Amino acid sequence: PLVEAMEPNRTTMRFVVLLVVGTLIVSGAAEYVRPPPGRAILTEHDKPASHPQQVHLSVVGANHMRVSWITDAKHGHSVVEYGRASGNYTTSATGEHTSYRYYLYSSGKIHHVTIGPLDPDTVYYYRCGTVGDEFTLKTPPAALPIELALAGDLGQTEWTASTLAHVSKNDYDMLLVPGDLAYADTQQPLWDTFGRFVQEHASRRPWMVTEGNHEVEAGMALPGSPGPFVAYTARWRMPHEESGSTSALYYSFDAAGGAVHVVMLGSYAAFNSTSEQYGWLARDLARVDRRATPWLVVLLHAPWYNTNAAHAGEGEAMRKAMERLLYEARVDVVFSGHVHAYERFVNKGL
Ligand SMILES: *[C@@H]1O[C@H](CO)[C@@H](O)[C@H](O)[C@H]1NC(C)=O
Ligand SMILES: *[C@@H]1O[C@H](CO)[C@@H](O)[C@H](O)[C@H]1NC(C)=O
Repeated sequence: PLVEAMEPNRTTMRFVVLLVVGTLIVSGAAEYVRPPPGRAILTEHDKPASHPQQVHLSVVGANHMRVSWITDAKHGHSVVEYGRASGNYTTSATGEHTSYRYYLYSSGKIHHVTIGPLDPDTVYYYRCGTVGDEFTLKTPPAALPIELALAGDLGQTEWTASTLAHVSKNDYDMLLVPGDLAYADTQQPLWDTFGRFVQEHASRRPWMVTEGNHEVEAGMALPGSPGPFVAYTARWRMPHEESGSTSALYYSFDAAGGAVHVVMLGSYAAFNSTSEQYGWLARDLARVDRRATPWLVVLLHAPWYNTNAAHAGEGEAMRKAMERLLYEARVDVVFSGHVHAYERFVNKGL
């Protein structure tokens, strides 16, 4: 509805916008009051250690998907078996695994397997590591219409559960997350509880994410301390190489057969005019052919426009550095998270 109101002639992409933690509260002319944090929901692994957990999907190129999951056991296989009928896995793909340490915490084995080529708008059944439950996914369509759901600042509370329940009422094709996933904030087991919490949703549809401030988790400035984004980049791998980006903190991808180009910017990566992100963004936008790609969508965490007192001005340096690039490319819509309040702005352009 948001986009349809702005662009009445291009109604073939629908956004379902949901903000988590602060569910939308309309309070007349009064100041927005942020609701208190919801009760935390910490999801345990109730299967054998060798069984996959924290299964989630992301798109890789036009007709592939990355399946990511974690096993506690050190010997889980990075294999996905899949097919178009339940239990009849006609194809399998092998990928790779990684792990990381964060002070005393050692992650499980983090598997990433790319499957495909897959048919568009098609249901597949799959199993990870040759053991455990069967999962079901639906691939996005290869043309418009497409339905993109959006939810930022997820966390793992009763608010999150409510938001994801709302999202699931729509048969959306892909979820876009403008940052702040687990709110682990250096407590690494919270990444695992989050992965289990969202599996029910993230194993069915691709979740495309970019980072927020709660993903930074930089260790102390001491030798041997973990750097920033260690957990985020190991666990929530996105197709940055495929979009010519040298950083896991920003990337882009096409949806609906190239009718939609989504740019995921990094609020917490360097962005000034001499930065790698700036150069990459300029090249990425220059490659978009607006005759083939009527929809150009940008996500980032810290909003460039915000009338709330909370987080006021935090996006201003990035706005000053990059806003002109977005105007010149005639970006249709920018989504942000961070503030936990719903606002929208219409820009008349330069
Ligand atoms: C499994 O799928 C293949 C390919 O669609 C089909 O030829 C085969 O009959 C199926 N097997 C079973 C047991 O359903
Ligand atoms: C961009 O940031 C880098 C690193 O902070 C700095 O060295 C450089 O001078 C900045 N460039 C501009 C144009 O502000």
